[in-house]
Amino acid sequence: MPVLDPREFIRAKRDRRVHSAADLREFIAAYLRREIPDYQVSAWLMAAYLNGLDEAETEALTLALLHSGRTFDWKDLGRPSADKHSTGGVGDKISLILAPLVAACGVLVPMVSGRGLGHTGGTLDKLESIPGFRTFLEPDAMRAQLDRIGVVMVGQGPDLAPADGLIYALRDVTSTVEREYFIVPSIVSKKVAEGAGALVYDVKCGSGAFMKTRADAVHLARRLISVTRSLGRRAAARVTDMNQPLGVAVGNALEVQETIAVLRGGGPADVRSLTLELAALMLSLSGAASVAEAPKRVEQALDSGAAWERFVELVRAQGGDPASVERTGGMPAAPVVVPVTAARAGVLETVDSFALGELVVGIGGGRRAKEDKVDPRVGLMVRRRIGDRVAAGDVLAELHLAKDDAGAVERARACFRIGEGPAAAPELVIERVD
Ligand code: URA
Repeated sequence: MPVLDPREFIRAKRDRRVHSAADLREFIAAYLRREIPDYQVSAWLMAAYLNGLDEAETEALTLALLHSGRTFDWKDLGRPSADKHSTGGVGDKISLILAPLVAACGVLVPMVSGRGLGHTGGTLDKLESIPGFRTFLEPDAMRAQLDRIGVVMVGQGPDLAPADGLIYALRDVTSTVEREYFIVPSIVSKKVAEGAGALVYDVKCGSGAFMKTRADAVHLARRLISVTRSLGRRAAARVTDMNQPLGVAVGNALEVQETIAVLRGGGPADVRSLTLELAALMLSLSGAASVAEAPKRVEQALDSGAAWERFVELVRAQGGDPASVERTGGMPAAPVVVPVTAARAGVLETVDSFALGELVVGIGGGRRAKEDKVDPRVGLMVRRRIGDRVAAGDVLAELHLAKDDAGAVERARACFRIGEGPAAAPELVIERVD
């Protein structure tokens, strides 16, 4: 039996009381020991979602998650280290391009990522759509790979903030995601535990993000930075647009294909430019390059093919089949592809990116219950951007489905609002918070 009575702990938050750091630590530790079941943690998550955690509770939760596992340190490898984490978006495949790109510039990237969360996609699910790719490595294997190729991309496993891994999976399926005081501990605990010296946060803002307004996103960015710095790491953030999916592809295997296109010198302009901005920030924050020099270094590493080569090495090192990323048609593909067309002419005014993300979860690209298997093949390709003029019948998107689904096509069409315009294309980088 846990020392702490979980019913009393839940009741305290239900009744809007403040937890002590000791109680929070014990609740998390007892959950990790499996002395408290998922249903009681879910009840507490909902109570806290509704009634809040204050700053001290948020910091105590961060420490409780961080100390649920080990803290890694790569200083003996003798190179600067950095990582980036996104707060979650639709079509956000930046990490897959950024990690090998920054490693190709001589900075260690010990990247620890999550699975899909709520309506957003997760880096681990995307990587696992590459046949054979393993997202768990033992700590010794992580060290050896980091030393050899400068990059690892893994999930938390039992060593690294494991309590965040458990709670993250519960939040995903209990509608308890969109709260700053859950997001900060979740991100900062795993990022500090992984041992990168400099952390860059991409805080998404808009209809497809957890933070819908600029004020909330900037507040989250500042909290991420201050809690990270209080734990002895350098940190900076960019607040970036998520009012429409990033790039064209949404869905696990489709996003890997778009990653490959960008790494090979093509791909959508927004994906390329945000990747370069975040990569340059990682270089300058880690001390590997000056602020003036960093943009040239990362652009050169992308355009020379060095980042692409590092990506193929990464795939091979983690058990993936390099042929699946090197040859066209190597990734799993959906059997049914259907266009979603515009019902009328006009200007694309808004995209309901939250609903598009939910649609991808609904057709099998994410989870509705913890045990669900993700179908890597499904998703959509978004062909129009906010501000574009369209004619009736123009293709707005293509849906990639496991089987025919007329309802999904209609739901996708309803996500694109076409009006008289004009509608301005959103700025990609909304605010730089350093
Ligand atoms: N990414 C995380 O790792 N955790 C969150 O809560 C949100 C985004």
